[in-house]
Amino acid sequence: MQIKSKFAASGSSIFSAADYLLTQYDAVNLAHGTPDFPFSQELIENANEAMQAEGSLQAPWEGLMALREKIADKISFLYTHSYHPDTEVTVMPSAKEALFASIAAVVHAGDEVIYFEPSFDSYAAMIALQGAVPVAIKLQAPGFTPDWDLVKAKINAKTRMIIINSPHNPTASVLSEADIQALQGLVKDSHIIILSDEVYEHLVFDEDVHRSMSSYPDLAARAIVVTSFSKVYQVSGWHVAYCVAPAMLTQEIRKVQQYVMFPADTPMQYALAAMMEQPNHYMTLSTIYQEKRDLLAHGLKASRFELLPSKGGYFMLAGFGHFNDLSDVEMVKHLIVNHGVATLPLSAFYSDGADQGILRLTFSKDDETLEEGARRLCEV
Ligand SMILES: Cc1ncc(COP(=O)(O)O)c(C=O)c1O
Repeated sequence: MQIKSKFAASGSSIFSAADYLLTQYDAVNLAHGTPDFPFSQELIENANEAMQAEGSLQAPWEGLMALREKIADKISFLYTHSYHPDTEVTVMPSAKEALFASIAAVVHAGDEVIYFEPSFDSYAAMIALQGAVPVAIKLQAPGFTPDWDLVKAKINAKTRMIIINSPHNPTASVLSEADIQALQGLVKDSHIIILSDEVYEHLVFDEDVHRSMSSYPDLAARAIVVTSFSKVYQVSGWHVAYCVAPAMLTQEIRKVQQYVMFPADTPMQYALAAMMEQPNHYMTLSTIYQEKRDLLAHGLKASRFELLPSKGGYFMLAGFGHFNDLSDVEMVKHLIVNHGVATLPLSAFYSDGADQGILRLTFSKDDETLEEGARRLCEV
C-alpha cells in the first residue's frame, strides 16, 4: 500500500534534532519559549479547587460562560471593542487549535493566504491542509516589519486571508501605527479576513503598546484574534486559549472546533476565570520580560554575537555570520555540543530554509539560566 504524504517536503526537523542534542548534552535551554520559572501558586490552588468541585464534567464546547465573560471584559478594558461572550468569544484547547479552526473555517481549496516569514511554523502547514496556497512574504532584517507594497502586489481575487503576528515569533518585531494604517488601506472594501495571532499581546517593551486588531473597529469587523493563556500565565503545559471574532465568523469557527476538537479542560477554565479577576497579573508582564531581555542582552555584551532589536515577545535574534561561516543549523549543533547551550536557527522559520547566519534565543527563562546561557555564549 502507498500513501501520498501531505508533508512530503518535511523530513526530521532541526527542532527535534536540537531537542535530542539538548537532552544528550544537558545544555542550557535558550531554544524553547517555555518559561522554566515558578508560576502563580494562586492559579494552582484555583485549579485544585475546581478539580475537587467540578469533577470531570466537560465544559460547553465554546467555553465556560464565566471565562468568556471575563475575556470579553478584558478586551473591552484593554482594546475598547465589545465582543459578545455568547456569540463572539470562543475558548479553545490551544492557540494552535484556534489558528487551525480559524483557517479551516474560512479558507477554501484554491484560496490564497498571505503570511509573513520567518514565521511560527504552523501557518503554512495549516493553509496547505485546506488545499489552499500559502503566500509567504519575507520580512527583512534588521527590523523584520512588513513591506506593505509587496503585500499589495501579492493581493488578488483569490486572497482570502492575511495572517499577522505581533509581537512576532521569531523576530520580536511589533506592528506600529503606520503598519496598522497600511493594513487598513489594503483590506478596505475587500473580502479579506485578517487572522491575528496575538499570543504575546502582554509582552511589548520600551514603552511601546500592543496594537490589537480589536482596537480598530474597521479591522475588528473582519478579524479573528487569537491569544493564549499559556503565554499570559507562564503555563506552557496548560493548553487553554481563545479566539474572538464577529458572530458570523465565530459561528463557522465553532463548527470546525466541534468536529475536530474537544473543549479546553474544565478545571483550568474555572481557574483562569478566577485569575482574570485581577488584571495586575498580565499588566506587569512586559516589565518582567523586559528585565529578562535586558539581562540576557547585558550578559551577551562581551560576546561576538550581534543582537538585533527585540521589541516584544519571548525572543531575541543574534547574528553570527560576521565571525563564523557555519550554516545556522550547524551553528546550533556546534553550540550545543561544544558550548552546552541550545538555540534555534532562524532558517527553521522559513519555508525555503533561508539562512542569514542568525539564531533565535529565548529569554523566557529564570535569571540563572539566562546568566549561564550568556556566559557560555561569550566563550564562543
Ligand atoms: C506565534 C505563536 N502562535 C501560537 C502559538 C501556540 O500557542 P499555544 O501554546 O497556546 O498553542 C505559539 C507558541 O509558541 C506562538 O509562538
